[in-house]
Amino acid sequence: MDTINPLWFLLSTLTMVLLSLVQATSDSSPLETFLNCLSHHSPSSISNAIYTLNNSSFLSILHMHTYNHRFSASTVPKPLAIVTALHESHVQDSVKCAKISGLQIRIRSGGHDTEGLSYVSDVPFIVLDMFHLGSIDVNIENGTALVQVGATIGQVYYHIANKSNVHAFPAGVCPTMGSGGHFSGGGYGNLMRKYGLSVDNIIDARLVDVNGNILDRKAMGEDLFWAIRGGGGASFGVILSWKIKLVSVTPNVTVFRVKRTLEDGATDLVYKWQLIATEFPENLFLRSTFEVVNCTQGGKKTLQVSFIGLFLGQSGTMLNLLNESFPELGLVQSDCTEMPWVNSTLYWSNYPNGTSIEALLDVPEEPGSYYFKTMSDYVKKPIAKDDLKSIWDFMIKSERVKMEWNPYGGKMHEISSSETPFPHRAGNLFLIEYLTSWSEDGIDATNHYLKISRSFYKFMTPYVSNSPRGAFLNYRDLNLGANRPSNVTRIGIGQNYGIKYFKGNFERLVKVKTKVDPNNFFRHEQSIPPLSLYVGK
Ligand SMILES: Cc1cc2nc3c(=O)[nH]c(=O)nc-3n(C[C@H](O)[C@H](O)[C@H](O)COP(=O)(O)OP(=O)(O)OC[C@H]3O[C@@H](n4cnc5c(N)ncnc54)[C@H](O)[C@@H]3O)c2cc1C
Ligand SMILES: *[C@@H]1O[C@H](CO)[C@@H](O)[C@H](O)[C@H]1NC(C)=O
Ligand SMILES: *[C@@H]1O[C@H](CO)[C@@H](O)[C@H](O)[C@H]1NC(C)=O
Ligand SMILES: *[C@@H]1O[C@H](CO)[C@@H](O)[C@H](O)[C@H]1NC(C)=O
Ligand SMILES: *[C@@H]1O[C@H](CO)[C@@H](O)[C@H](O)[C@H]1NC(C)=O
Ligand SMILES: *[C@@H]1O[C@H](CO)[C@@H](O)[C@H](O)[C@H]1NC(C)=O
Ligand SMILES: *[C@@H]1O[C@H](CO)[C@@H](O)[C@H](O)[C@H]1NC(C)=O
Ligand SMILES: *[C@@H]1O[C@H](CO)[C@@H](O)[C@H](O)[C@H]1NC(C)=O
Ligand SMILES: *[C@@H]1O[C@H](CO)[C@@H](O)[C@H](O)[C@H]1NC(C)=O
Ligand SMILES: *[C@@H]1O[C@H](CO)[C@@H](O)[C@H](O)[C@H]1NC(C)=O
Ligand SMILES: *[C@@H]1O[C@H](CO)[C@@H](O)[C@H](O)[C@H]1NC(C)=O
Repeated sequence: MDTINPLWFLLSTLTMVLLSLVQATSDSSPLETFLNCLSHHSPSSISNAIYTLNNSSFLSILHMHTYNHRFSASTVPKPLAIVTALHESHVQDSVKCAKISGLQIRIRSGGHDTEGLSYVSDVPFIVLDMFHLGSIDVNIENGTALVQVGATIGQVYYHIANKSNVHAFPAGVCPTMGSGGHFSGGGYGNLMRKYGLSVDNIIDARLVDVNGNILDRKAMGEDLFWAIRGGGGASFGVILSWKIKLVSVTPNVTVFRVKRTLEDGATDLVYKWQLIATEFPENLFLRSTFEVVNCTQGGKKTLQVSFIGLFLGQSGTMLNLLNESFPELGLVQSDCTEMPWVNSTLYWSNYPNGTSIEALLDVPEEPGSYYFKTMSDYVKKPIAKDDLKSIWDFMIKSERVKMEWNPYGGKMHEISSSETPFPHRAGNLFLIEYLTSWSEDGIDATNHYLKISRSFYKFMTPYVSNSPRGAFLNYRDLNLGANRPSNVTRIGIGQNYGIKYFKGNFERLVKVKTKVDPNNFFRHEQSIPPLSLYVGK
């Protein structure tokens, strides 16, 4: 992997020289070139889809899907234009015209990227916004659905349930995530022990490649189809839609959420949880989440652990199971509620009891109002009780860091780690998501909380996977290593984050990238580099 193909290097250099010549001689700005090109390709309908700074709704369109408030500040670089594609051909034309005008493209579906990479860049760029392309066509007879990338996963859940109460799809918990980014980054949720990730249940896709052609699975070939199921779509093309395979659930599922503080013996519970949550029957998913709360008296802080369960079956069966394997939790019938699976998706994302399932159709119309930073880790060995206590001490001191522990086992351990680019399968006990969030404005607050989140990550080093320290692409973290698109040199590109997110699958991703986008048109701070730019460690 450490040989550089001189031909690609020459070609990409040549392309850049040619592009700058075109710009210099045509005497128009890249934006003008881009807009002229679009009006030639799509003369009629596309003008309704283009927003430049001249349009009064430019900022509201930009921020409608800016989920992390860290990236809506006025100091954050803005795109020259936003194309809110109304038709697949608008996507094809945007790719062709961005290439001609030398502009970078950022692709956005639901805008939940934790580092804002779908709408921020440090070079002149346009945003290709996919939210209008959001149709969902559920085919119960064949157990499949066609989902355009602009559909949120909440909408996917709703439309499945509108046709059947015994079908479902394994994906994440926050209903406003877009299926474009969420699925192409893996997509996990509370059905993962039974059915794996979203990408384990995708059977076809349509994508616009670097030449502006639309390819389905057959046309793109198995390598590229493999790469976009967990390798991140934005390195390879623009995904238009997915064909997903529905999975089956019981007419009612059982949910519960019980809270235990350190004073209630949470340390022992969490220690035991590590030993058994991976071993439960795959119908049971038991997440634990951790946050610092006030003690009821004395103004002291303590750690509170929430155990949140989803069981595909009736509460009696589940209570028997837990009474046998986890009696210390003390779960009782009144903690449990039976409801259709679709209602359970609202329950899991903390909607108030009684919320109508139509809420799953909602999309945010305001930018996210809080700032956050996420990170992730994989744990392979149970963490000793004394170590758990020092983790709690660290959290209580810093107050604002939270964690979510998601058990593996079941289907996650049966699927080979090279089946999709997502490599974290057998051998992992659980996935940690770290979340630091704040609402104070200003750079000082941001730096303060980013520093806390980094120090917690550092503190956790001895307890989590190493060589490499694994990370989950969907919890994108630029601390793992990043390239600046304005300065793509051969040095250091792709070295750190690629191995952490994809382990041994990274090299295959580089091969696919080299084949389908050798000049690295589709790129961002953590994209997959083509071989010409990649120097292995
Ligand atoms: C509150 C919150 C909760 C979350 N919960 C979960 C969870 O339960 N499970 C989980 O797995 N993840 C979770 N995530 C992470 C989430 O899955 C990722 O942020 C995901 O990338 C979001 O997809 P999106 O389309 O909304 O994001 P976007 O910001 O639109 O895109 C994310 C990335 O995908 C690329 N992309 C988007 N659309 C396309 C496309 N059509 N073609 C090619 N590339 C594309 C973007 O360019 C960007 O690189 C959560 C994130 C947040 C903020
Ligand atoms: C935005 O403004 C341009 C002119 O600056 C116009 O051509 C285009 O139609 C406007 N877009 C929308 C969506 O109104
Ligand atoms: C924006 O408006 C200005 C002045 O009205 C005009 O000169 C310019 O061409 C417009 N830009 C675009 C991209 O439409
Ligand atoms: C289900 O799939 C079969 C075979 O692919 C196809 O012939 C049939 O039309 C599909 N049914 C529906 C309702 O689309
Ligand atoms: C749900 O299905 C019914 C028909 O069964 C349909 O009338 C309704 O429009 C659907 N809801 C949505 C939001 O599509
Ligand atoms: C905890 O108590 C402090 C004051 O003692 C208060 O400011 C804070 O909001 C409380 N936090 C929670 C989560 O209740
Ligand atoms: C749990 O199991 C014990 C022993 O088998 C039994 O006595 C108890 O009633 C059970 N509790 C519940 C809630 O089922
Ligand atoms: C599902 O649970 C509800 C109570 O929430 C109950 O009324 C209903 O009969 C149950 N349905 C099935 C099929 O078990
Ligand atoms: C939800 O509200 C209903 C009606 O108010 C109540 O009967 C039920 O117990 C509540 N469920 C939960 C889980 O709080
Ligand atoms: C599930 O959602 C439907 C539709 O919003 C609602 O009518 C029903 O009461 C809910 N059931 C439960 C058990 O929450
Ligand atoms: C580009 O990146 C290289 C390697 O990281 C660095 O040495 C160089 O100074 C950077 N150049 C600019 C202009 O930022």
